[in-house]
Amino acid sequence: MNTEKILEVKDLVVEFRTERGVVKAVNGVNFEVHKGKTLGIVGESGSGKSVSALAIMGLIPNPPGRVASGQILYRGKSLVNIDPSEMRKIRGNKIAMIFQEPMTSLNPVFTIGNQIEEVIELHQPHLSASERAAKAVDMLRLVGIPSPEKRVKEYPHQLSGGMRQRVMIAIALSCEPDILIADEPTTALDVTIQAQILELMNKLQKELGMGIILITHDLGVVAETCDHVAVMYCGQIVESADVETLFNHPSHPYTKGLMDSIPDFDSTSGHKKERLQTIEGMVPSLFNLPTGCNFQDRCSKVTEACRGMNGDPTLKPAKGDDHFVACFNPLENI
Ligand SMILES: Nc1ncnc2c1ncn2[C@@H]1O[C@H](COP(=O)(O)OP(=O)(O)O)[C@@H](O)[C@H]1O
Ligand SMILES: [Mg+2]
Repeated sequence: MNTEKILEVKDLVVEFRTERGVVKAVNGVNFEVHKGKTLGIVGESGSGKSVSALAIMGLIPNPPGRVASGQILYRGKSLVNIDPSEMRKIRGNKIAMIFQEPMTSLNPVFTIGNQIEEVIELHQPHLSASERAAKAVDMLRLVGIPSPEKRVKEYPHQLSGGMRQRVMIAIALSCEPDILIADEPTTALDVTIQAQILELMNKLQKELGMGIILITHDLGVVAETCDHVAVMYCGQIVESADVETLFNHPSHPYTKGLMDSIPDFDSTSGHKKERLQTIEGMVPSLFNLPTGCNFQDRCSKVTEACRGMNGDPTLKPAKGDDHFVACFNPLENI
């Protein structure tokens, strides 16, 4: 098994200055990405998933945001406060990202082919125009777009959402990145297309050996695609483990809550069942986090200890190797 570490995020804190004060959108996060492996980052909306990804890409809008502290190491090289021209060489070259909404990321006035060729030209300037054009067609074929010779001449609006997302993946992969960050890449797509895109990413990962960070709010997607998982809540990782450990021994009540809200697939009818359960209550405002555990007001296992007398919970070893949980009253007997 190859476990070469290619990205390391250490104690990352990202702040935004707003009219209501400074918020820590990411507050002391640690994770690693290994070659050929997929790290899932999961959590409800607003938990700091995208901000973590943007920090890695050097794309936190500043102002109002900034990486306040911590380290981001790509193959040992620090990306925080790196020279912008150097970061541009890494971004879209060594580390590429695909975003949630493919329509907004493609330029409506250029053909699909133009947009892929532009990336190829940037990263492989030695190729001739005809070699670039041929490579653009190859890339569309690689991501499973039918009749790529025809599609390459089309404009974004002529493609379906699923095809546009494939184009985005083709663009991201045109530079053969070492790390691919996929931020909710299938959220805007229907379930069948979603499955195809995820399968495609897995296949390409095997072929190209890249490390993937897959950001999602859907633990069902995590179960099918990830090797390791970090569960985020209010800008912090509350549980992390390899995917089997996480599903077999969820230790944080929040993780268990997310699992209980995965719609079960009914194998007899082939249809999705209704959601069994959702986590009650609301994510607290980052402007007004409680003392103690941030999940206390939604937690069925809450005790006095969770309300602040012991400070905030920090990640501690849990059952199983490489399994950590930040909880004063973890679930033990599952
Ligand atoms: N441009 C911004 N200005 C101010 N606050 C921001 C900005 N972007 C993100 N945030 C804050 O960071 C939090 C986490 O955002 P995000 O990482 O996008 O969440 P998600 O987990 O849904 O991807 C938001 O709830 C918001 O408070
Ligand atoms: Mg997001």
